Amino acid sequence: MTGDVHPAWLPPEALRAVGSRRVLIQGGGLLVDTVRAELSRACGRFGGTVGGDGPFDLVLKLSNGRRPPDPDVFVLSRDAGVTVVRADEPAGLLYGFFHVVRLGEAAFDGAFPPRPHRPAIRRRMVQHWDNVDVHPVMGQVERGYAGGSVFWHDGALRADLSRVTAYARLLASCGVNALCVNNVNVHATEARLLTGRLGDVAAIADLLRPYGIRVHLSVSFAAPAVDLGTADPLDPRVAAWWADTTRRVYATIPDFGGYVVKADSEGQPGPFADGRSHADGANALAAALAPHGGVVHWRAFVYNHRQDWRDRGTDRARAAHDHFVPLDGAFGDNVILQVKHGPIDFQTREPVSPLIAAMPATRVAVEVQATQEYTGQQRHVCYLGPMWSEVLGFAPWGSEGPPVAGLAAGLVAVSNVGDDPFWTGHPLAQANLYAFGRLAWDPRLDPVAVLDEWIDLTFGPGATADPRLLRATLHAVMDDSWRTYERYTAPLGVGFMVRPGHHYGPDVDGYEYTPWGTYHFADRDGVGVDRTRATGTGFAGQYPPAWSRVYESVHDCPDELLLFFHHVPYGHVLHDGGTVIQHIYDTHFEGVEAVGAMRDRWSALPAGLVDPALAARVAERLDEQLRSAVEWRDQINAYFFRKSGVRDAHGRRIH
Ligand code: GCU
Repeated sequence: MTGDVHPAWLPPEALRAVGSRRVLIQGGGLLVDTVRAELSRACGRFGGTVGGDGPFDLVLKLSNGRRPPDPDVFVLSRDAGVTVVRADEPAGLLYGFFHVVRLGEAAFDGAFPPRPHRPAIRRRMVQHWDNVDVHPVMGQVERGYAGGSVFWHDGALRADLSRVTAYARLLASCGVNALCVNNVNVHATEARLLTGRLGDVAAIADLLRPYGIRVHLSVSFAAPAVDLGTADPLDPRVAAWWADTTRRVYATIPDFGGYVVKADSEGQPGPFADGRSHADGANALAAALAPHGGVVHWRAFVYNHRQDWRDRGTDRARAAHDHFVPLDGAFGDNVILQVKHGPIDFQTREPVSPLIAAMPATRVAVEVQATQEYTGQQRHVCYLGPMWSEVLGFAPWGSEGPPVAGLAAGLVAVSNVGDDPFWTGHPLAQANLYAFGRLAWDPRLDPVAVLDEWIDLTFGPGATADPRLLRATLHAVMDDSWRTYERYTAPLGVGFMVRPGHHYGPDVDGYEYTPWGTYHFADRDGVGVDRTRATGTGFAGQYPPAWSRVYESVHDCPDELLLFFHHVPYGHVLHDGGTVIQHIYDTHFEGVEAVGAMRDRWSALPAGLVDPALAARVAERLDEQLRSAVEWRDQINAYFFRKSGVRDAHGRRIH
């Protein structure tokens, strides 16, 4: 710990390799000054030098040669003992600098030819579900598991924003270049950020700017109604209101990124109120932003949250595709349709949303949830890199076609950060934020290799007495933790067996007879949702043929999604030869055993190998994870045993 905040993956030690070199920086401007300040600090600590006559070990230069410049790109090379980072634009230099930090000593070893590094995804954004006021139900941060907001406290901007600078640095170091400062559910106080409280947003923007991060704001679609009594997007007065308001925003924050909008979704206002389409709605805001270079992130999370559970024809999974595909081509160029990675809602296992591939004439951003609402709420270890890597690598048209990463103009993570001393509540959840940035930059990275980067930076040589033991332990605890979590919570693609409201812990029927549209349909004979075209809701037909065929077939459907697409008898045989019911029992017993093993591995670490406060926090959370996993196992196994009457083939105890 430095002070009372953990340095996460940028402890001073992580900059030892660059800090002990003779460095030359060529170029000027705000971001280059950031790099210069970083290097001066590191060199002051580790004996290197910045500037002077040379010779140099590391040269960072802004070449400004190519037109048009490629904003985030840098070229890294090493020849004749000199490592060179060259970039067209300051942001490229910043990313190049952090890449050299990540490489450590390897950046100064041997020779390597020039290699351009270019992000696969242009917009790499974190969105905070932070409220300015403490919300009576959701608190300061909606679905936040890491304490209060780093920006807001009790109705006001925090007086001490020093953590925001530290946060911006962490984000830039893994490639994030945009941030939204408030919750997509825009309540009364937060609505005023756009108007009377713009100064608060500008103060945050000032701290993010040196790290190349543009600020965005969640706005209420109904904002103009306060002044005009209407928010009808086709009313010229409404258009003028957005134009005026947006002009003021840019006068205060010239590099403002744009708006994020949750409309006609879970009670938020939207264009449906005036009989307008979502394209009409999004375009009204987009037109106001266009002259200033801003964008609207328009969320596709639109579904009926007041459905009748008796109605088997309505399927929440279908909703986004049903609403938005007819509008493809109707959105302005600066509208980015923001689509959750799965068709429902950040469950532990969902198929990739078919909407991502169904909007060829629309820019699409994919939204993931770093905050672990449905994946253990930062009390359970759940490294999400492997999940996101699967999503980004999914090829909707089959292996001949592009993967999701090739279709996405943006990748968005709902942030998992708060004012907790470890940033993320669970210290190991820091790796999720890091992996998000890295995978957005290069989706082909192996998530386990990304974990190695994170381990090296966070606990690298010098920071621990036995790096090999620590690395082995962290891999044992984290590599497979998402699949372990799936084993004890979400068999074969069934989701939402969580406690309603807060979503922590098991409640198999908690949502079964509710209006939210998330059901498993377990009865005495079987379980799962029939989403086939032949006999079900037809959701499987929303995919291009390559996957539609696979998901439609009960035989070809991958086991991990079987119950998402099919209602099958408990005796249905899976690809591995076991039955559905036995799979449920086995995975729940195995999941608990795996958590027990994770806890044992961690507690076997010799004292002092990592910061004692961090070790204790992880240990305490692993105890809770084990307690909770046992509860999940026992409730789910008992539930399905009582429904099916089928005994466990191994005679284990089911209550
Ligand atoms: C989930 C989550 C809400 C959130 C919503 C959204 O349903 O529980 O808190 O507002 O997603 O993404 O808008």
